[in-house]
Amino acid sequence: MTQEISSLSPSAEPVSAMVEHASAAQKKVFIKTYGCQMNVYDSSRMADALAADGYQQTEDMEEANLVLLNTCHIREKAADKVYSALGRLREMKKTRTAKGEEFMIGVAGCVAQAEGEEIVRREPGVDVVVGPQTYHRLPQALKRARSGTRVVDTDYAVEDKFEHLPDPTKIAGKRRVVTAFLTVQEGCDKFCTFCVVPYTRGAEVSRSLSQLLDEAKRLVDGGVREITLLGQNVNAWHGKAPDGGTMGLGDLLYKLAEIPGLARLRYTTSHPRDMDDRLIEAHRDLRMLMPYLHLPVQSGSDRILKAMNRRHKAADYIALVERIRQVRPDIALSGDFIVGFPGETDEDFEDTIRLVEHIGYAQAFSFKYSPRPGTPGADLPDHVSEDVKTERLARLQELLLKQQHDFARSLIGQTMDLLLEKPGRMPGQIIGRSPWLQSVNVDAKASQIGDIIQVRITDIGPNSLFGEVVES
Ligand code: SAH
Ligand code: SF4
Ligand code: F3S
Repeated sequence: MTQEISSLSPSAEPVSAMVEHASAAQKKVFIKTYGCQMNVYDSSRMADALAADGYQQTEDMEEANLVLLNTCHIREKAADKVYSALGRLREMKKTRTAKGEEFMIGVAGCVAQAEGEEIVRREPGVDVVVGPQTYHRLPQALKRARSGTRVVDTDYAVEDKFEHLPDPTKIAGKRRVVTAFLTVQEGCDKFCTFCVVPYTRGAEVSRSLSQLLDEAKRLVDGGVREITLLGQNVNAWHGKAPDGGTMGLGDLLYKLAEIPGLARLRYTTSHPRDMDDRLIEAHRDLRMLMPYLHLPVQSGSDRILKAMNRRHKAADYIALVERIRQVRPDIALSGDFIVGFPGETDEDFEDTIRLVEHIGYAQAFSFKYSPRPGTPGADLPDHVSEDVKTERLARLQELLLKQQHDFARSLIGQTMDLLLEKPGRMPGQIIGRSPWLQSVNVDAKASQIGDIIQVRITDIGPNSLFGEVVES
């Protein structure tokens, strides 16, 4: 979930906020999204806010009047990428402004939050910096920047940004999207010792039940069939029930499942400690809750889990996965792993390998530990050498890749529901999404985008599967 995601990648599905009757003079924005799905969601909302301000989204940076980088601070490399991109943009700005064209540069997201003023100091080309909690004020910031004041707005806004964003369904010309993200919770109170998220995104805040039901209904009215609930710590979501009691993510899923026309639900990313009984019941009861769960464990060593402040042991995680598999046997697991956390010995790493072998992942993301300034992990003794990290990562990734292929291969010959998402490359071909989040190519001339059809998997490719329609 943390690789660089282009705002144009198919999985990102940015709301391309096209405004009708675009004129030649219309301003254009190019948005580049790095980091996690939360940033993908935020980029869509920024596109909405800018569309309401007269900006059309473009996929061509050369024709943009505003380039917005929605950034990620999770690892050093992710943050470095921003500064090298800004260097290139500075040159572009010189050329464009010499021609008398407007060309502005904005930085949003987690690097913006973490480094704020430092960005405008280091990069003279940057006009505006907005944090994850203040991007709804982007149009005002741009206005001030146009009159010559460079703006850094990274407060934790006291007002609710979600109340200030334009309604995406009311933006003219938006094409049909059948899958959508819905942010239900932001921030994190867990303070894992390696992680910057509690500092860049702040404390956990849950959106209200009524706001979420309202947004979900609007998405479904606009043609969405599958909603993925998002949060840095999504299963920590809590809300007030209509009777005054407290609701958790499981309760929210039951509520959302009642929306007519909504066919599928997912949620990401969850913390093992917040997988409560009600959420596990939701996996048992709701067929529309897809059998795919991203449940990061980070390490298989209890010593390292403790040093990471994960506050669970490897055995707790394994027991939890067993409970979930008992109620939903077809569930596939995905995870995140860090190798080379300070103090990690060969034996600790072997524990991680053993855990992976035991669980069997359908997909997983794995990273070398990257010390982040200001996090407790960075100050721990016994940092692991780069060579050892590289070696361990290669071994872990080989195992995870093999598991991923084995899982995909096990689907050959199986029949499954496919949500048709977008046209494929060949005429008549449509690309759909499997219950396990894989892309499946199928010849489905008689069907439409948004339909759910039955397919039999015939083959697997490097990044997608192939299927044939099962006539009912
Ligand atoms: N909230 C999620 C993770 C969000 S960050 C959770 O608790 O699991 C996404 C992933 O990035 C993490 O799961 C972790 O594997 C990785 N990550 C975070 N900080 C990192 C660091 N300093 N170095 C390397 N990987 C890191
Ligand atoms: Fe980071 Fe841990 Fe919070 Fe996940 S739970 S966002 S890894 S601090
Ligand atoms: Fe990166 Fe911020 Fe997401 S640091 S992973 S963009 S929450």
